[in-house]
Amino acid sequence: MKRILVTGGAGFIGSNFLNYILKTYDDIFVVNYDKLTYAGNLENLREIEAKKNYVFIKGDIVDHEQVSNTLKKYEINNIINFAAESHVDRSIHSSYSFYETNVLGTNVLLNAAREIDLEKFLQVSTDEVYGSLSTEGLFTETTALNPKNPYAASKAGADLMALAFCNTYKMPIVVTRCSNNYGPYQFPEKLIPLMVINAISNKELPVYGDGLNIRDWIYVIDHNKAIMKVLEDGKSGEVYNVGAKSEKPNIEIVKLILDYLEKPYSLIKYVNDRPGHDRRYAIDSAKLMADLNWEPEYSFDRAIQDTIKWYLDNKNWWERILSGDYQNYYKLQYQTN
Ligand code: NAD
Ligand code: DAU
Repeated sequence: MKRILVTGGAGFIGSNFLNYILKTYDDIFVVNYDKLTYAGNLENLREIEAKKNYVFIKGDIVDHEQVSNTLKKYEINNIINFAAESHVDRSIHSSYSFYETNVLGTNVLLNAAREIDLEKFLQVSTDEVYGSLSTEGLFTETTALNPKNPYAASKAGADLMALAFCNTYKMPIVVTRCSNNYGPYQFPEKLIPLMVINAISNKELPVYGDGLNIRDWIYVIDHNKAIMKVLEDGKSGEVYNVGAKSEKPNIEIVKLILDYLEKPYSLIKYVNDRPGHDRRYAIDSAKLMADLNWEPEYSFDRAIQDTIKWYLDNKNWWERILSGDYQNYYKLQYQTN
C-alpha cells in the first residue's frame, strides 16, 4: 500500500491533489505535511479532513528532525514535494524564503528520504526552470535550464538536487515540470483569481507591460492526474513535462473574465511590467503522453468558466483571505503602479 507524505498539501495544487486522490483511491494512506504559510489553508481540505487514511501535520520541510520523525512514525514509502514559496512577484521583493523552502527544504526532504524504504520521490517542479521562449518552439525535457527570476532559480536548484540524489544515491526519484495551473482554491495573488476577484469587486485589473506575455494553461486536476501517473509509473531519473497545449496572451484571459462577468474593459489598467518578465511559456508533454498514456481531459474554454464560477460561488473563501495580511502584500506590489 502506498503511504504518501504530501508536502504543501494545504496550498492550491496540493489541496486539489488531496481532494482528488482521497476521493478516488481507497488503498492509500496520506500524511499532509504543511507549514501553513500565508498560502496554506486548511479550509481547502474540509471535504476530506475526517477520512481515516488522512493525517495533517503542521511542519516545516526545512526541519530535518520533524521530517524524519514523521516519515518513520507513519511508515512513509512515497513522497510528493509540492511545498514551496510559489509566487514570482514575491520572490522579486525578497528571495530568502524562496531559497530556504525551495532549495534547502527540498534538500532536507531528499536527505530524510535516504533513511526510509523509499518507493518513489516525486519533485513537483515547473516549466519556469526553462526560462522564456520567443514566438516559436516549445519546452521539451531536454531544453537547457535557464531560470530568469529568483523563484524559478530556486525551483531549478531543487529540481537539479533531486536528479543529483537519484544519480548519486541510486534513489527512485522523478521530476515533473508543469505549466500554469488554474482552478479552485488558487491564492488571489495569481493572475486568474486576482482578475476574477477584482472584476467581481469592480476594482482595477492590473495588467503588466503590454499584456501580451503568453502562458500555457492547464486545469489543476489534469496536473494532479499526471502527478499520480508519474508517481505510479514514472521511470526513476526521468523528467516529465506536463501541459495542456493552451497558450494564451494574458490580456485575452483578462478580457474573457470581464466578458463572463459582464464587466467593462475600462476596468483594465496597464501597469509597470514585472522586472525580467518571461515572455512566453509553451510546453511539450509528448513524452508523458507516449510513455505513461496521460492526456489532459479538461478544455480551457469549459474549465475557465467553471473556475470563474467557483470564485463567484465561494466569496467567503476569498473574502477571509482579502481581509488579512494580503492587504499589505497588495499595497506593496501595486502601490507604485
Ligand atoms: P501555493 O503557494 O498555493 O502552496 C504552497 C504550499 O506549501 C502552502 O500550503 C504552504 O503553506 C506550503 N509551504 C510553504 N513553505 C513550506 C515549508 N517550508 N514547509 C512546509 N510547507 C510549506 O503553491 P501552488 O501553486 O499550489 O504550487 C505547488 C507546487 O507546484 C510548488 O512546488 C510550485 O512550484 C509548483 N508548480 C506550481 C504551478 C502553478 O501554476 N501554481 C505550476 C507548476 C508547478
Ligand atoms: O509556469 C508555471 C508557474 O506559473 C508556476 O511555477 C508558478 O508557481 C505560478 O505562480 C505561475 O507563475 P507566473 O508568474 O506565470 O503566474 P502569475 O499568475 O503570477 O502570472 C501569470 C501572468 O500574468 C504573468 O505573465 C504575469 C501576469 N500578471 C500577473 C499578475 C499577478 C499580470 O499581468 N498582472 C498581475 O497582477
